[in-house]
Amino acid sequence: MKDLALITGGAGFIGRHLASALLARGYRVRVLDSLIEQVHGAGAVPRGLDPAVDFVAGDVRDAGAVARALAGATHVVHLAAEVGVGQSMYAVERYVSVNDCGTATLFQALIEAPVKRVVVASSMSIYGEGLYRTHGGATIEDAVRKPRKPGEPWDPLDAEGRPMRPVPTPETKRPALASVYALTKYMQERLTLTLAPAYWTSAASPGASVPRSAASRSPATSTPRRSLRSGRR
Ligand SMILES: NC(=O)c1ccc[n+]([C@@H]2O[C@H](COP(=O)([O-])OP(=O)(O)OC[C@H]3O[C@@H](n4cnc5c(N)ncnc54)[C@H](O)[C@@H]3O)[C@@H](O)[C@H]2O)c1
Repeated sequence: MKDLALITGGAGFIGRHLASALLARGYRVRVLDSLIEQVHGAGAVPRGLDPAVDFVAGDVRDAGAVARALAGATHVVHLAAEVGVGQSMYAVERYVSVNDCGTATLFQALIEAPVKRVVVASSMSIYGEGLYRTHGGATIEDAVRKPRKPGEPWDPLDAEGRPMRPVPTPETKRPALASVYALTKYMQERLTLTLAPAYWTSAASPGASVPRSAASRSPATSTPRRSLRSGRR
């Protein structure tokens, strides 16, 4: 029997492409998606979703729907989320509910129905403005973009008021959680990286201080193998 990958939020932009890619690699694919209006309008299953996908309509916060979607699954890719930095700043309850309670509901179910591997999509938003370099060559991790008048430079300024230069941002950069969306995505990461090693493996995303995804291997037991690591960032 082929492995069965469950993609939460799999009717969305990334999920539809991922579903096709997994099918092409020989997986069976199931999607759990509530088809939110903001993304899908009237709520019809999107045309871009491969017809070979087993589509399950449901909310990732609904424990019953999650348990049904998990039946027989060997892999999970968790993409279901409210997506957007700006909107998260006024739709606070909705973002926290879907992104964090939804992830908690999924992991609660995974304790009872473990899989070989779980992948969670994080977001670059957890790095805030990313890394900047000053004229003097100093690297700045906590750049803040202040309101600008028209014609003024857009990039953040250094202590002397000179624009700084954006530079590539590695995943080891300290988080800079400047929006509700960033907070909720970081929570998804940490929940994954806390529970995976506690339940299923001693080395989930080894060495990753600020990982974008996490993986867990086949559980040997449904009780924690080791106490939770704490304080690692
Ligand atoms: N697109 C990007 O550039 C980007 C960048 C970084 C991270 N991500 C992350 O990748 C994931 C997928 O992003 P996307 O661009 O495909 O977003 P999308 O909005 O196109 O897809 C999200 C899907 O989740 C579904 N959904 C929303 N709430 C749900 C709920 N409560 N229960 C079940 N399904 C629900 C939506 O109906 C939608 O189909 C998200 O977790 C997002 O945070 C996306």
